[in-house]
Amino acid sequence: MNDYSTIFEKRATDYHLAMQQFPNARLHEFNNLISSADFSVINKVLDIPSGGGYLKHFLPHHVNVTSTDFSEGFTSNDIKLVSPEKLPFESNTFDVVFSLSGMHHLKNVPLFIEECLRIIKNEGNFIFADVKKGTSIDVFLNQFVNEYNSLGHKGDFFHEDYFEKYPNIQNKIVECKYNEYPFVFNSKEEMILFFKLFFGLDKANDIAIFEGIHDILGLQYTKTGIEVNWGLLRYIFIK
Ligand SMILES: C[S@@+](CC[C@H](N)C(=O)[O-])C[C@H]1O[C@@H](n2cnc3c(N)ncnc32)[C@H](O)[C@@H]1O
Repeated sequence: MNDYSTIFEKRATDYHLAMQQFPNARLHEFNNLISSADFSVINKVLDIPSGGGYLKHFLPHHVNVTSTDFSEGFTSNDIKLVSPEKLPFESNTFDVVFSLSGMHHLKNVPLFIEECLRIIKNEGNFIFADVKKGTSIDVFLNQFVNEYNSLGHKGDFFHEDYFEKYPNIQNKIVECKYNEYPFVFNSKEEMILFFKLFFGLDKANDIAIFEGIHDILGLQYTKTGIEVNWGLLRYIFIK
């Protein structure tokens, strides 16, 4: 199956459950996405696609956050359904647009970025982080998740030269950097449950999930629990 609107409609409930049960598992991933932003001068933020609006909880309280998603599975009174190819916002509306792990299933990435740049104010940033091609995260998603999620997983991942063919986008890049950080859990059992729900691993038992994490991503036991190696390529654009 490769219709990602249908796939995310089916996956949304378990994904959201994982995020509600373990809201701090991805703490470092969210914090890394926003770490370059100067919130003393930022008021209006767009999170796209937001899933269940998780990023909001990591932003300062004064920030006005609009949460949006491309899938009906995530939309609610607080999360607006939008199309990545025609965003329903006026030009020059947001100080910053953030996008976390939500672009590797888009049919037209450049068009989405052009839309994000259109709705950002001049001098504002579009900041996204997503999977880097050729990393262990790529292998985990496109091989392990693809095998053990009955809906499959085929992501078109990113690399440093991705936008070379699109000069209008390429010349707005101010940073492109691969950042590594862990997912954090109190116990092995919590880690396995999170991965099962978050990645929809309905065809894997707990042992297979543990082995997949251990062998492909790598993990460490810590004083407070267990950490799984993760990392994303972060791009920062300026308008
Ligand atoms: C891995 S989740 C990331 C959500 C959130 N930013 C987070 O970090 O938890 C991917 C999101 O992208 C949306 N999405 C991406 N491509 C899509 C597509 N082609 N059709 C529908 N939804 C899509 C999904 O609805 C989902 O919310």
